[in-house]
Amino acid sequence: MNDSSQPLTAQTPRPAETRSAGANASWGGRFAAGPAQIMSDINASIGFDKRIWRQDIRGSLAHAAMLAGIGVLSTDDEAAIIEGLAAIGAEIEAGVFPFDVALEDIHMNIEARLTERIGDAGRRLHTARSRNDQVATDFKLWVRDAIDGLSGQMADLMLALAQRAAEHASHPMPGFTHLQTAQPVTFGHHLLAYVEMLARDRSRLADCRRRLNECPLGGAALAGTSFPIDRHQTAAALGFDGPTANSIDSVSDRDFALEFLGAAAICAVHLSRFAEEIVIWCSAPFRFIRLSDAFTTGSSIMPQKRNPDAAELVRAKTGRIAGSLVALLTVMKGLPLSYGKDMQEDKEPVFEAADALALALAATAGMVRDLMPELARMEVAAGQGFATATDLADWLVRTLKLPFRQAHHVTGKLVALAEARDVDLAQLDLGAMQSIEPGITADVYGVLTVAASVSSRTSHGGTAPANVAREAARWLTALDRELVA
Ligand code: ARG
Repeated sequence: MNDSSQPLTAQTPRPAETRSAGANASWGGRFAAGPAQIMSDINASIGFDKRIWRQDIRGSLAHAAMLAGIGVLSTDDEAAIIEGLAAIGAEIEAGVFPFDVALEDIHMNIEARLTERIGDAGRRLHTARSRNDQVATDFKLWVRDAIDGLSGQMADLMLALAQRAAEHASHPMPGFTHLQTAQPVTFGHHLLAYVEMLARDRSRLADCRRRLNECPLGGAALAGTSFPIDRHQTAAALGFDGPTANSIDSVSDRDFALEFLGAAAICAVHLSRFAEEIVIWCSAPFRFIRLSDAFTTGSSIMPQKRNPDAAELVRAKTGRIAGSLVALLTVMKGLPLSYGKDMQEDKEPVFEAADALALALAATAGMVRDLMPELARMEVAAGQGFATATDLADWLVRTLKLPFRQAHHVTGKLVALAEARDVDLAQLDLGAMQSIEPGITADVYGVLTVAASVSSRTSHGGTAPANVAREAARWLTALDRELVA
C-alpha cells in the first residue's frame, strides 16, 4: 500500500526513507508530506465548495454586466465572459471540468479556466471585486436556493399530514402527557399538531430568507472600491432586494447561514419527535400503525421483525443538523472583523445540514403517506388508563356545581375504586359511584365514552372531530392554493 495514502497521524512514526523530499528537516519527521502539501490540504476548499459553482457563475455574470454598464469592461469582453462562463458551466455539468486543488477554491478554478479560454477578458473580470464579497454572495445565493427547496419539501410534508388528518379527523387515539394516557384525542388532531410545527419552520425559513436578501457583492475585500460600481444593479440582477449597507459587514456576516442552520435544527427536532412517535407506534405493545416494506427492514436473525429504520434515521439525522449549527456558531465566535479564513469552514456544515434535512423531510413525507393506522387498537387504547376521568370531573362541575378542585378530588377517589376493582370508570355501577358522591346520577355514563369525550372538546383548537375536519380542510385549501400558484 502506498504510504502517503494513509491518514496522517502524529502517533505514526515513519521510517526516514518514506519521508517526502519536501518535509521540513527539523520538525517534518512526523509528517509524510512537506509543508506545501500540508498547507494545500488545509487551505483548499475546492473539494466541497465546487458545489456553489452555479451561484459563482451567476454572480460573475451579474458583475460582468455591471462592469460593462459602467464602461470598465468593453462589450466584447463582456460577450467573451458570458460565452466562456456558459462553456465552463457546461463542462462542470458534464463532469469534465478540470478541477485543480492548486487553485484552492471554486472562484479561482472558474476564473483560471475562463482566462485559459478567453484570455485577458477573464483577467479583467475580478476588477472591483474580491473573493471575500464573491464568496459571501455565492453562499447567500446557495442558502437562498436551499431555503426555497426545503420550504417546498416542508409544504409537501404538511400536505401529506393534512390529507391523513382529514382522513382520520374523527378516529380516536390516546392523547399522552408524560407518555402516560391523558385524554382521548383524534389521530387527525395529533397529525395536525405537526402541520402547525412545520408551518412555523417554514415561517422561520421565510424570515431568514427575508433578512438574507441583501447583496454583499461590491463590498470587495472589506472597504468597498474606488470604481464607480452600481451595486443596485448587481443586487437586482441576482434577485436581492438591494445591496448591503456596510462593506465590512458584507464580507464578515454569516448570520444568514447561522439562521438557516437554526431553523433547520428546529425543524429537525420536530421531525425527530415525529420519528420517535412512529417508532413507538410501530412497536408490538402499541401497534397503533404499520409501515409497509418500503419504510422498514427485516432482521437477519429474528424473522418476525419489521424495524422502522427510516424513522430511526430521521430521528438520528437531527444530531448532524444540530451539530452543524453548533459547529458554525463555534467557528464564528470571537472572529475579529472582517473576513477570516476560518469562515471557509462555513460551507460544509450548511451543506451537510441541508442534505440531511432534505432527506429527513422526504423520508417523513414518505412514511406519512405509507403508514396504515390500526384504528380499532387505537380506539381501545384511547379508553384505557381512565382516559375519561377529566370528563367525569367536568360533569361533576357542570351538573352538581362542585368546585373543580373538589370534583378533581372526588374523581380521584372514583379512579382509585375502579383501579382496586380492576375495571374502567364506565364499569363502576351507580351504587359504587354514589358511595363516593351521592349526587351522581346515571347521566354520568354519557360522558365516560371515548366518542363523547372527543366530540365534547369543541373549544378553539380542541380535538372535536368537527374542529379537526375544519382545520384539515383549512390547511388543504391553503396548501393547494400555494402549490398551484
Ligand atoms: N475559499 C474562500 C472561502 O470559502 C474564499 C474566500 C477567500 N478569501 C481570501 N481572502 N483568501 O472563504
